Amino acid sequence: MSQLDLSALFSDRAKDMKPSPIRELMPYIKQPGMISFAGGNPDPKIFPIAEFANSYVILENDGKTVLQYGATDGYEPLKKFVANWMAPRMGRVVEPDELMITSGSQQGMDLLCAALINPGDGIIVEDPTYPGAIHTMRNRGAKFVTVPCDDDGMKVDMLPDAMERARASGIVVKFIYSIVNFQNPSGCSLSAERRKKMLEVAENYNLIVFEDDPYGHLRYDGIHEPTMFSMDRSGRVVYACSFSKILAPGARVAWITGRPDIIRKMIMVKQGADMCTSLVAQSMVYQYCADGHMDSFLPKIIDHYRKKRDNMAEAFARYLPSDVQYTVPKGGFFFWVRIPGINSRELFNKSIERGVAFVNGSAFYANGGGLDYIRTCFTFATTEELDEGSRRLSLAIADMKG
Ligand SMILES: Cc1ncc(COP(=O)(O)O)c(C=O)c1O
Repeated sequence: MSQLDLSALFSDRAKDMKPSPIRELMPYIKQPGMISFAGGNPDPKIFPIAEFANSYVILENDGKTVLQYGATDGYEPLKKFVANWMAPRMGRVVEPDELMITSGSQQGMDLLCAALINPGDGIIVEDPTYPGAIHTMRNRGAKFVTVPCDDDGMKVDMLPDAMERARASGIVVKFIYSIVNFQNPSGCSLSAERRKKMLEVAENYNLIVFEDDPYGHLRYDGIHEPTMFSMDRSGRVVYACSFSKILAPGARVAWITGRPDIIRKMIMVKQGADMCTSLVAQSMVYQYCADGHMDSFLPKIIDHYRKKRDNMAEAFARYLPSDVQYTVPKGGFFFWVRIPGINSRELFNKSIERGVAFVNGSAFYANGGGLDYIRTCFTFATTEELDEGSRRLSLAIADMKG
């Protein structure tokens, strides 16, 4: 009997795939007594379990539809709800052919890449950016053109230069990927002025702008900036948002909005991927929203997470050495922490020994870098753990400094 030779069978793309750096941390995070600042998880203690459980009535009321295969672009009542609920942010009620429901924003991102990216095409990404985006884009064969961020988001003044560099090396750039609000990992938000400038650059270079906004509703201080979708006059912004951070990531229900011809292509890709997002999940999310729970839950989680953000800020101020740099985020889930002179991979090992986990900065750099950064999530840990985990982190830093 001859052995199966997978090296002759796996696709070139599969051979090149790397595991998600965050999912790889799971075995460490699951160790007993470990405090996790690692994954970007909501607080399970505040999941609206009773309200969501009551949404099962949709199965009784509309079971013949929701237990059937559904339309690829999504459950119509949910689409209508989202279009109306998002209208203040989108600048108008988007049309049904401009909106589709996806299995998480992660899928929206993948469908957009499938519609736009040939292997070797370029995507402009923030440096640092969300590792899940790097993962999806890499799987689709994209090359990364990186532009650094500061407190006002991507340094858009550097975009033309980045485009020229990409062109000079023969890379066809298709879109700019920007996490506009409370960016993962840096916590920064793109200023209104830079949003305008980004759109101008996109117009000059015939680019799409992918505005990824899973944290936009979770603002703890200040006022909301207008979405780029609402500012766009040339139909080039594709906007994605999700129920993951504002309701429950286990639902795997999100949405994406853009020009009908772009959405149409993404629908065709989705037809071949999963036909439709679970109708059971979509309809329960719809019922939950239609019962008014989303509107009453949002202020509660904003208050809850603001307190947790403050808990982490207080604990960092109490325990971390004075040379450690971070900005207290105005929203979202994360602190982005620079520890000068420290290799965060080595710090990670020391921290695990001390009983606290985070994500190494290097996971967030598409083309390498970020070794002296770590990302800490403040939404998942309890108040006591935010304090104790920060203390453990300071001990691990002290271990490194020897
Ligand atoms: C910036 C960003 N985009 C997209 C996602 C994916 O979210 P979803 O659960 O909707 O797939 C995440 C999840 O952490 C994220 O941080």
